[in-house]
Amino acid sequence: MPNAAPMLRLEGVAKSFGPVAALRSGTLVVRPGSIHALVGENGAGKSTLVKIVGGVHRRDAGVVELDGTPVDFGGPAEAKAAGVAVIHQEPASFPDLTVTENIYLGREPLRRFRRIDRRAMRDGARELFRSLGVDLDPDRPAEGLSIADQQIVEIAKAISLDARVLVMDEPTAALSAVEVRRLFTVARGLRDAGRAVVFISHRLDEVADLCDTVTVMRDGAHVSTDAVADVTPDELVRRMVGRDVAELYPKVPSTPGEVALRVEGLESTGTFHDVSFEVRAGEIVGLAGLVGAGRSEIARAVFGVDRYDAGRVVVGGRVLTPGDPAAAIAAGLALVPEDRRLQGLVVESSVARNVSSVALRRRRAVLLPGAEAELARDWAGRLAVKAGALDADATTMSGGNQQKVVLAKWLATHPKVLIVDEPTRGIDVGTKAEVHRLLSGLAAQGLAVLMISSELSEVLGMADRVLVVREGRIVAELDRAAATPEAVMRAATPGASAVAEGGAA
Ligand SMILES: Nc1ncnc2c1ncn2[C@@H]1O[C@H](COP(=O)(O)OP(=O)(O)OP(=O)(O)O)[C@@H](O)[C@H]1O
Ligand SMILES: [Mg+2]
Repeated sequence: MPNAAPMLRLEGVAKSFGPVAALRSGTLVVRPGSIHALVGENGAGKSTLVKIVGGVHRRDAGVVELDGTPVDFGGPAEAKAAGVAVIHQEPASFPDLTVTENIYLGREPLRRFRRIDRRAMRDGARELFRSLGVDLDPDRPAEGLSIADQQIVEIAKAISLDARVLVMDEPTAALSAVEVRRLFTVARGLRDAGRAVVFISHRLDEVADLCDTVTVMRDGAHVSTDAVADVTPDELVRRMVGRDVAELYPKVPSTPGEVALRVEGLESTGTFHDVSFEVRAGEIVGLAGLVGAGRSEIARAVFGVDRYDAGRVVVGGRVLTPGDPAAAIAAGLALVPEDRRLQGLVVESSVARNVSSVALRRRRAVLLPGAEAELARDWAGRLAVKAGALDADATTMSGGNQQKVVLAKWLATHPKVLIVDEPTRGIDVGTKAEVHRLLSGLAAQGLAVLMISSELSEVLGMADRVLVVREGRIVAELDRAAATPEAVMRAATPGASAVAEGGAA
């Protein structure tokens, strides 16, 4: 409904945190029956805008209107009551309650004598899932639900509250391809029912596929709003970054040297089996496979954060003690983990301390304030970390900038072998190209890189060799020339034939 009156309208909305102007002039006009993309670099102010719409932050200036009526939410509950729902990337559900109880928490339908009407609740939940076209058991506990299913529960909850505006802040970052397709079907259903959907993503192919309108933000301000059909991805990138972005996969050819990492017969009962491979100095080896195939588990065991039942890991000729990450770091191994918040970043500490923590500890250097700041400045500069100040708390940084800090922290240890697990998840296109250039350059200087990524184009664009993991086993090894998307997907998918022609085994 391109000419319908706006359901949500923001104009000139501003928000500062102390000296940091997170949002200078946020403008967004979303009409009913529309899926509206919001794109921009890390730190552009997208999440800050969303938090103002969702009642998490209070704006300093500007206008927010819902159905033409000015609103000023004092908290998330007020936003919800007014019909605005924010679906978080990793929703916080209550694991001990059932799916149904999570949806109706705090507003359970009552029977006589104020007894909770469990049947009405369950029927309601079932009807919600039916209307969304998803197959979820309302009686199962929320514990153990995938992130994708937790998002669906949040959407069901939003609809049961009759939310008319649904905002999704990077919902697809941690989803598999199948889960993304299901989420898109649900989002289209919401659009067709006349609701307004705001969709944030760093993946422009998703924007082209799902959205009808796109708003670009840069440095906390509105840049442009267009029909998706009227603007090319290259043009969007130019507007986001403010310049042309160089090649996304700047692969530098390199001659592999000595074996830097050797994994022999690694075995973890029920998780992965008989995993053997080598990575040579100067080589980038990609670990491809479907979400859940066991790639991250293998990486964690190699680094020593998880134990294994058999096999061994050799780094630079030294056999590593199982389950001892400190020994792995001392031998020259580094792991940039998949989940930055749980595993990689000392979030409550300053950016400078985060970046320098492992490197300075390893050199047993005294933590001179000067050394810490210098190391941090160097790496933060190379990765274009956008932080108000290096002594700021890392929790206040945007998602993508937190990811860069984790990368900087491990690169500062000057490892011989670097394992990166989803290195560019949540990172904007401009910085993504920078991260790729950096990895390619480090490999050309002799670093051995093992790269896990769910983005097939990233693995194929960067790797010299691709190992395909399926159900905890390495089922194919393909050299760069043989690693086509078809060959990798065929090997990665259970049930498909695993024959990899032209492999470099
Ligand atoms: N609570 C806070 N305190 C201080 N600074 C903040 C706070 N929240 C956000 N910022 C800053 O505001 C800027 C915008 O952050 P925001 O999270 O809105 O970016 P974003 O566009 O969502 O980025 P990303 O793509 O990385 O998620 C960043 O520079 C960030 O460091
Ligand atoms: Mg964000």
